[in-house]
Amino acid sequence: MKFPKKGLPQETILKELEKVTSQDLSFSSGRILGSMCTMPHELAIEVFCRYIDRNLGDPGLHPGTRKIEEEVIGMLSDLLHLERGYGHIVSGGTEANILAVRAFRNLSDSERPELILPKSAHFSFIKAGEMLGVKLVWAELKPDYTVDVKDVEAKINDNTIGIVGIAGTTGLGVVDDIPSLSDLAQDYGIPLHVDAAFGGFVIPFAKALGYEIPDFDFKLRGVKSITIDPHKMGMAPIPAGGIIFRRKKYLKAISVLAPYLAGGKVWQATITGTRPGASVLAVWALIKHLGFEGYMEIVDRAMKLSRWFAEEIKKTPNAWLVREPVLNIVSFKTKNLHGVERKLKEKGWGISAHRGYIRIVFMPHVTKEMIEEFIKDLREVL
Ligand SMILES: Cc1ncc(COP(=O)(O)O)c(C=O)c1O
Repeated sequence: MKFPKKGLPQETILKELEKVTSQDLSFSSGRILGSMCTMPHELAIEVFCRYIDRNLGDPGLHPGTRKIEEEVIGMLSDLLHLERGYGHIVSGGTEANILAVRAFRNLSDSERPELILPKSAHFSFIKAGEMLGVKLVWAELKPDYTVDVKDVEAKINDNTIGIVGIAGTTGLGVVDDIPSLSDLAQDYGIPLHVDAAFGGFVIPFAKALGYEIPDFDFKLRGVKSITIDPHKMGMAPIPAGGIIFRRKKYLKAISVLAPYLAGGKVWQATITGTRPGASVLAVWALIKHLGFEGYMEIVDRAMKLSRWFAEEIKKTPNAWLVREPVLNIVSFKTKNLHGVERKLKEKGWGISAHRGYIRIVFMPHVTKEMIEEFIKDLREVL
């Protein structure tokens, strides 16, 4: 397509965009069942649009927005049982994970740095390993799909710069035995990073509701950093990931001087330079508006719906649960998986089959009515 010579009227442009984007599946349709994102909360959309010009890459220009980011980091740290945490709202879980690996690498003196991570870890660590020159050492999973802590221990050596545990795996929503990983990390003096990109906005509320899920946060001394994404179950607009470090030294280890900024020199730890202040303000507004109780209600609905769906799968011929759900994700196998996937997609469902199963993520936009309709279609296809 050519770069246009002459501009078109705004109305023409908007009409064209409406036509093209009508091909997209929207979260508000309720038919996206295989995504960890959702329709942002209306307050967050309002705040995001209102402050669209704020740039946290030059925080000296926007000291108010910088203060709000500090408060967000404070509130997330508190949620994760840390009195004072250090971190940022970043572009997503990928950037957050890369920052953690970068901090661990920069603080280690190994010339051949290695990171031990579960085979269930998100592919963002593959990017981190490649970009940072860190060798990834994959630990085996147990039959329940949590990481085998014994295998993690067997893989520790002098080059190990860190261990990763997952609190809410991408595929199955499984939570690793973080308490044991934390003990191990403490014993060997190695930092533990917890990827709670998804689980961070689920587990604290699910535990308060009475679900039995192991501890995963800074309560455990070996945990030195946590990824927690507001743009997943936090209901914030994209982009909003989160990284929290236990100590300032981790943030310092990845900070570089930004010398020329209009707002004055700053030390910058994020991968992106210019970054949206609007995201941070939207997260702040949402946390203040919903509070712990508001998120608890959202998680309560999602967890109940996922349990109900899991029971329906058990009653469905030719479909099998991969395992009992831990968080609000249910994955199941079927006969002729890719054929079933294709037919469900043809019926307009936003799902995917991967690693031998179809995964349904019970995000806030997923309703009981839509799930009933999905089950009807699934049974028909099967
Ligand atoms: C456990 C986990 N970590 C990290 C990520 C990456 O997050 P993002 O896509 O926001 O970069 C995901 C994405 O689904 C995830 O499930």
